[in-house]
Amino acid sequence: MLHPLLKVTKIGFIGAGNMTQALIKGMVESQRILPSKIYVSNRTPGKLIKLKENFAVNTCEHNEEVVDTCDVVILATKPQDLPASISEISGKFRPEQIIVSLAAGINMSALEKLIPAGRLIRLMPNTPSLIGRGVLGVLMQNADESASDLIHDMISSLGVVFDVTNEDQFDALMVSCSSGTGFVFEMMMYWQDWIQERGFTPEESRQMTVETFLGASMLAAQATGIEIEELQQRVTSKKGVTAAGLQSMRELEIERALRISFEKASMRSQEISRQNQI
Ligand SMILES: NC(=O)c1ccc[n+]([C@@H]2O[C@H](COP(=O)([O-])OP(=O)(O)OC[C@H]3O[C@@H](n4cnc5c(N)ncnc54)[C@H](OP(=O)(O)O)[C@@H]3O)[C@@H](O)[C@H]2O)c1
Repeated sequence: MLHPLLKVTKIGFIGAGNMTQALIKGMVESQRILPSKIYVSNRTPGKLIKLKENFAVNTCEHNEEVVDTCDVVILATKPQDLPASISEISGKFRPEQIIVSLAAGINMSALEKLIPAGRLIRLMPNTPSLIGRGVLGVLMQNADESASDLIHDMISSLGVVFDVTNEDQFDALMVSCSSGTGFVFEMMMYWQDWIQERGFTPEESRQMTVETFLGASMLAAQATGIEIEELQQRVTSKKGVTAAGLQSMRELEIERALRISFEKASMRSQEISRQNQI
Protein backbone atom coordinates (compact mmCIF):
# COMPACT_ATOMS: atom_id res chain seq x y z
CA MET A 1 0.00 0.00 0.00
CA LEU A 2 1.28 3.47 -0.84
CA HIS A 3 2.11 5.92 1.92
CA PRO A 4 -1.23 7.47 2.98
CA LEU A 5 0.22 10.98 2.70
CA LEU A 6 1.61 10.57 -0.82
CA LYS A 7 -1.49 11.87 -2.61
CA VAL A 8 -1.59 15.04 -0.55
CA THR A 9 2.14 15.69 -0.24
CA LYS A 10 3.31 18.80 -2.06
CA ILE A 11 6.59 18.14 -3.84
CA GLY A 12 8.81 21.04 -4.91
CA PHE A 13 11.79 21.23 -7.22
CA ILE A 14 14.40 23.98 -7.14
CA GLY A 15 15.93 23.79 -10.61
CA ALA A 16 14.05 22.56 -13.68
CA GLY A 17 16.85 20.89 -15.65
CA ASN A 18 17.30 17.42 -17.10
CA MET A 19 16.96 15.46 -13.88
CA THR A 20 13.92 17.37 -12.66
CA GLN A 21 12.25 16.81 -16.01
CA ALA A 22 13.04 13.08 -15.84
CA LEU A 23 11.73 12.79 -12.28
CA ILE A 24 8.56 14.75 -13.00
CA LYS A 25 7.85 12.70 -16.11
CA GLY A 26 8.28 9.45 -14.17
CA MET A 27 6.20 10.62 -11.21
CA VAL A 28 3.34 12.04 -13.25
CA GLU A 29 3.17 9.18 -15.75
CA SER A 30 3.09 6.61 -12.95
CA GLN A 31 0.00 8.50 -11.72
CA ARG A 32 1.26 8.28 -8.15
CA ILE A 33 1.70 12.02 -7.88
CA LEU A 34 -0.83 14.51 -9.16
CA PRO A 35 0.70 17.31 -11.25
CA SER A 36 -1.26 19.77 -9.11
CA LYS A 37 0.91 18.67 -6.15
CA ILE A 38 4.18 19.49 -7.93
CA TYR A 39 5.81 22.94 -7.72
CA VAL A 40 8.92 23.96 -9.68
CA SER A 41 11.17 27.01 -9.73
CA ASN A 42 14.13 27.75 -11.99
CA ARG A 43 16.73 30.49 -12.47
CA THR A 44 15.31 31.44 -15.88
CA PRO A 45 11.71 30.91 -17.06
CA GLY A 46 12.17 28.91 -20.32
CA LYS A 47 12.13 25.39 -18.87
CA LEU A 48 9.26 26.23 -16.53
CA ILE A 49 7.02 27.19 -19.42
CA LYS A 50 7.72 23.84 -21.10
CA LEU A 51 7.18 21.86 -17.90
CA LYS A 52 3.83 23.55 -17.34
CA GLU A 53 2.80 22.87 -20.94
CA ASN A 54 3.90 19.22 -20.86
CA PHE A 55 2.85 18.14 -17.38
CA ALA A 56 0.53 20.86 -15.99
CA VAL A 57 2.67 21.31 -12.87
CA ASN A 58 2.72 24.54 -10.85
CA THR A 59 5.57 26.89 -11.58
CA CYS A 60 7.02 29.39 -9.12
CA GLU A 61 8.82 32.62 -9.83
CA HIS A 62 10.99 32.36 -6.72
CA ASN A 63 12.70 29.45 -4.97
CA GLU A 64 11.30 30.75 -1.71
CA GLU A 65 7.76 29.98 -2.90
CA VAL A 66 8.71 26.32 -3.37
CA VAL A 67 10.15 26.12 0.15
CA ASP A 68 7.15 27.90 1.67
CA THR A 69 4.62 25.71 -0.15
CA CYS A 70 6.04 22.22 -0.21
CA ASP A 71 6.37 19.31 2.23
CA VAL A 72 9.21 17.78 0.20
CA VAL A 73 11.78 20.06 -1.47
CA ILE A 74 14.08 18.53 -4.08
CA LEU A 75 17.28 20.50 -4.65
CA ALA A 76 17.99 19.96 -8.34
CA THR A 77 20.41 22.63 -9.46
CA LYS A 78 23.95 21.72 -10.49
CA PRO A 79 26.07 21.18 -7.35
CA GLN A 80 28.05 24.38 -7.91
CA ASP A 81 24.78 26.39 -8.04
CA LEU A 82 23.26 24.81 -4.95
CA PRO A 83 24.68 27.15 -2.26
CA ALA A 84 23.62 30.26 -4.22
CA SER A 85 20.16 28.85 -4.95
CA ILE A 86 19.31 28.48 -1.27
CA SER A 87 21.59 30.95 0.52
CA GLU A 88 18.94 33.64 0.86
CA ILE A 89 16.21 31.23 1.90
CA SER A 90 18.07 28.73 4.09
CA GLY A 91 16.26 30.10 7.16
CA LYS A 92 12.90 29.26 5.57
CA PHE A 93 13.26 25.48 5.77
CA ARG A 94 11.12 23.86 8.46
CA PRO A 95 12.07 20.98 10.77
CA GLU A 96 9.30 18.68 9.50
CA GLN A 97 10.16 19.34 5.86
CA ILE A 98 11.88 16.60 3.84
CA ILE A 99 14.77 18.04 1.83
CA VAL A 100 16.17 15.87 -0.92
CA SER A 101 19.47 16.82 -2.52
CA LEU A 102 20.38 15.42 -5.94
CA ALA A 103 23.75 17.14 -5.88
CA ALA A 104 26.71 14.93 -6.58
CA GLY A 105 29.68 15.99 -4.47
CA ILE A 106 27.85 17.80 -1.67
CA ASN A 107 27.93 15.49 1.32
CA MET A 108 25.60 15.41 4.32
CA SER A 109 27.74 17.55 6.59
CA ALA A 110 27.96 20.27 3.92
CA LEU A 111 24.20 20.04 3.40
CA GLU A 112 23.62 20.38 7.14
CA LYS A 113 25.61 23.59 7.14
CA LEU A 114 23.60 24.96 4.22
CA ILE A 115 20.22 23.88 5.58
CA PRO A 116 19.84 24.21 9.33
CA ALA A 117 16.35 22.69 9.63
CA GLY A 118 14.63 19.76 7.95
CA ARG A 119 14.97 16.03 7.41
CA LEU A 120 17.85 15.63 4.96
CA ILE A 121 18.11 13.00 2.25
CA ARG A 122 20.60 12.53 -0.56
CA LEU A 123 19.14 10.92 -3.67
CA MET A 124 21.15 9.71 -6.64
CA PRO A 125 18.98 8.83 -9.64
CA ASN A 126 20.25 7.91 -13.10
CA THR A 127 18.77 8.91 -16.44
CA PRO A 128 16.95 5.61 -17.16
CA SER A 129 14.61 6.83 -14.37
CA LEU A 130 13.01 8.65 -17.29
CA ILE A 131 11.53 5.34 -18.47
CA GLY A 132 11.05 3.73 -15.06
CA ARG A 133 14.27 1.68 -15.35
CA GLY A 134 16.46 3.78 -13.09
CA VAL A 135 18.76 2.77 -10.28
CA LEU A 136 18.27 5.17 -7.39
CA GLY A 137 20.37 5.43 -4.25
CA VAL A 138 19.00 6.97 -1.06
CA LEU A 139 21.08 8.12 1.90
CA MET A 140 19.20 9.41 4.92
CA GLN A 141 20.62 11.49 7.72
CA ASN A 142 18.06 12.53 10.28
CA ALA A 143 15.03 11.25 8.41
CA ASP A 144 12.66 8.91 10.28
CA GLU A 145 10.86 5.81 9.03
CA SER A 146 7.84 7.77 7.86
CA ALA A 147 9.98 10.10 5.74
CA SER A 148 11.85 7.11 4.36
CA ASP A 149 8.61 5.32 3.39
CA LEU A 150 7.23 8.46 1.77
CA ILE A 151 10.36 8.99 -0.33
CA HIS A 152 10.46 5.32 -1.35
CA ASP A 153 6.83 5.47 -2.53
CA MET A 154 7.49 8.75 -4.29
CA ILE A 155 10.37 7.40 -6.37
CA SER A 156 9.81 3.66 -6.66
CA SER A 157 7.98 4.05 -9.99
CA LEU A 158 11.24 5.45 -11.40
CA GLY A 159 13.20 2.23 -10.96
CA VAL A 160 14.86 0.13 -8.27
CA VAL A 161 15.71 1.96 -5.06
CA PHE A 162 18.64 1.08 -2.81
CA ASP A 163 19.12 2.43 0.70
CA VAL A 164 22.79 3.09 1.26
CA THR A 165 24.30 3.53 4.68
CA ASN A 166 27.26 5.85 4.14
CA GLU A 167 28.74 8.42 1.77
CA ASP A 168 31.29 5.95 0.32
CA GLN A 169 28.52 3.60 -0.77
CA PHE A 170 26.58 6.56 -2.11
CA ASP A 171 29.59 7.56 -4.24
CA ALA A 172 30.05 3.99 -5.46
CA LEU A 173 26.42 3.82 -6.56
CA MET A 174 26.76 7.18 -8.27
CA VAL A 175 29.86 6.12 -10.22
CA SER A 176 28.60 2.68 -11.22
CA CYS A 177 24.95 3.49 -11.95
CA SER A 178 24.68 7.20 -12.69
CA SER A 179 28.00 7.80 -14.45
CA GLY A 180 27.79 4.11 -15.32
CA THR A 181 24.95 4.84 -17.74
CA GLY A 182 27.43 7.01 -19.66
CA PHE A 183 30.06 4.26 -19.53
CA VAL A 184 27.63 1.76 -21.04
CA PHE A 185 26.79 4.22 -23.83
CA GLU A 186 30.52 4.53 -24.54
CA MET A 187 30.76 0.79 -25.09
CA MET A 188 27.60 0.77 -27.18
CA MET A 189 29.18 3.37 -29.46
CA TYR A 190 32.17 1.07 -30.17
CA TRP A 191 29.80 -1.84 -30.77
CA GLN A 192 27.73 0.13 -33.25
CA ASP A 193 30.80 1.48 -35.09
CA TRP A 194 32.23 -2.00 -35.57
CA ILE A 195 28.98 -3.33 -37.02
CA GLN A 196 28.54 -0.29 -39.24
CA GLU A 197 32.06 -0.64 -40.63
CA ARG A 198 30.96 -4.04 -41.93
CA GLY A 199 28.30 -2.68 -44.25
CA PHE A 200 25.19 -2.34 -42.10
CA THR A 201 23.30 0.93 -42.09
CA PRO A 202 23.59 3.20 -39.04
CA GLU A 203 20.00 2.30 -38.10
CA GLU A 204 20.62 -1.44 -38.38
CA SER A 205 23.89 -1.17 -36.44
CA ARG A 206 22.21 0.86 -33.73
CA GLN A 207 19.36 -1.60 -33.44
CA MET A 208 21.68 -4.61 -33.30
CA THR A 209 23.74 -2.93 -30.59
CA VAL A 210 20.79 -1.82 -28.48
CA GLU A 211 19.07 -5.21 -28.73
CA THR A 212 22.28 -7.05 -27.81
CA PHE A 213 22.72 -4.98 -24.63
CA LEU A 214 19.01 -5.13 -23.86
CA GLY A 215 18.76 -8.85 -24.56
CA ALA A 216 21.77 -9.69 -22.39
CA SER A 217 20.46 -7.46 -19.59
CA MET A 218 16.95 -8.90 -19.74
CA LEU A 219 18.29 -12.44 -19.78
CA ALA A 220 20.38 -11.66 -16.69
CA ALA A 221 17.42 -9.91 -15.03
CA GLN A 222 15.14 -12.89 -15.60
CA ALA A 223 17.68 -15.56 -14.65
CA THR A 224 17.42 -14.87 -10.94
CA GLY A 225 19.73 -17.01 -8.87
CA ILE A 226 22.08 -17.65 -11.79
CA GLU A 227 25.42 -15.87 -11.67
CA ILE A 228 26.28 -13.68 -14.65
CA GLU A 229 29.45 -15.75 -15.06
CA GLU A 230 27.30 -18.87 -15.49
CA LEU A 231 25.20 -17.11 -18.16
CA GLN A 232 28.42 -16.17 -19.94
CA GLN A 233 29.66 -19.77 -19.83
CA ARG A 234 26.40 -20.89 -21.43
CA VAL A 235 27.11 -18.79 -24.55
CA THR A 236 30.77 -19.80 -24.70
CA SER A 237 31.78 -23.12 -26.19
CA LYS A 238 35.33 -24.30 -25.68
CA LYS A 239 37.70 -22.99 -28.37
CA GLY A 240 34.72 -21.41 -30.13
CA VAL A 241 34.12 -17.91 -31.50
CA THR A 242 32.95 -16.31 -28.23
CA ALA A 243 35.83 -17.92 -26.35
CA ALA A 244 38.35 -16.37 -28.76
CA GLY A 245 36.84 -12.91 -28.28
CA LEU A 246 36.72 -13.28 -24.51
CA GLN A 247 40.31 -14.46 -24.36
CA SER A 248 41.35 -11.33 -26.24
CA MET A 249 39.27 -9.12 -23.93
CA ARG A 250 41.07 -10.64 -20.95
CA GLU A 251 44.51 -10.32 -22.54
CA LEU A 252 43.75 -6.68 -23.25
CA GLU A 253 42.80 -6.29 -19.60
CA ILE A 254 39.39 -4.74 -20.22
CA GLU A 255 38.56 -5.33 -16.55
CA ARG A 256 41.60 -3.31 -15.48
CA ALA A 257 40.71 -0.49 -17.88
CA LEU A 258 37.16 -0.38 -16.54
CA ARG A 259 38.26 -0.47 -12.90
CA ILE A 260 40.69 2.40 -13.51
CA SER A 261 37.91 4.40 -15.17
CA PHE A 262 35.59 3.78 -12.20
CA GLU A 263 38.36 4.87 -9.81
CA LYS A 264 39.07 8.01 -11.85
CA ALA A 265 35.37 8.92 -11.74
CA SER A 266 35.33 8.29 -8.01
CA MET A 267 38.40 10.50 -7.51
CA ARG A 268 36.70 13.26 -9.49
CA SER A 269 33.67 12.97 -7.22
CA GLN A 270 35.90 13.34 -4.15
CA GLU A 271 37.62 16.33 -5.73
CA ILE A 272 34.23 18.00 -6.36
CA SER A 273 33.30 17.26 -2.73
CA ARG A 274 36.46 19.01 -1.52
CA GLN A 275 35.75 22.01 -3.76
CA ASN A 276 32.22 22.18 -2.36
CA GLN A 277 33.30 21.97 1.26
CA ILE A 278 31.32 24.56 3.14
N1 LIG B 1 21.54 14.50 -15.27
C1 LIG B 1 21.88 13.37 -14.65
O1 LIG B 1 22.02 12.30 -15.26
C2 LIG B 1 22.01 13.34 -13.16
C3 LIG B 1 22.13 12.10 -12.51
C4 LIG B 1 22.21 12.07 -11.12
C5 LIG B 1 22.20 13.25 -10.40
N2 LIG B 1 22.12 14.43 -11.04
C6 LIG B 1 22.15 15.65 -10.22
O2 LIG B 1 20.97 16.37 -10.47
C7 LIG B 1 21.23 17.75 -10.31
C8 LIG B 1 20.71 18.49 -11.52
O3 LIG B 1 21.38 18.02 -12.67
P1 LIG B 1 20.82 18.30 -14.13
O4 LIG B 1 21.54 17.41 -15.05
O5 LIG B 1 19.33 18.26 -14.08
O6 LIG B 1 21.32 19.81 -14.33
P2 LIG B 1 20.77 20.92 -15.35
O7 LIG B 1 20.08 20.27 -16.50
O8 LIG B 1 21.90 21.84 -15.62
O9 LIG B 1 19.67 21.70 -14.50
C9 LIG B 1 19.98 22.54 -13.44
C10 LIG B 1 18.91 23.60 -13.39
O10 LIG B 1 19.12 24.41 -12.23
C11 LIG B 1 18.73 25.72 -12.55
N3 LIG B 1 19.32 26.68 -11.61
C12 LIG B 1 20.60 27.09 -11.50
N4 LIG B 1 20.74 28.01 -10.51
C13 LIG B 1 19.50 28.16 -9.97
C14 LIG B 1 19.00 28.96 -8.92
N5 LIG B 1 19.77 29.80 -8.22
N6 LIG B 1 17.68 28.88 -8.65
C15 LIG B 1 16.86 28.05 -9.35
N7 LIG B 1 17.29 27.28 -10.35
C16 LIG B 1 18.59 27.31 -10.67
C17 LIG B 1 19.22 25.93 -13.96
O11 LIG B 1 18.51 27.02 -14.53
P3 LIG B 1 18.80 27.65 -15.99
O12 LIG B 1 17.76 27.07 -16.88
O13 LIG B 1 18.64 29.11 -15.79
O14 LIG B 1 20.21 27.26 -16.35
C18 LIG B 1 18.91 24.58 -14.58
O15 LIG B 1 17.65 24.52 -15.19
C19 LIG B 1 22.73 17.91 -10.11
O16 LIG B 1 23.02 18.09 -8.76
C20 LIG B 1 23.30 16.59 -10.57
O17 LIG B 1 24.47 16.25 -9.83
C21 LIG B 1 22.01 14.51 -12.40
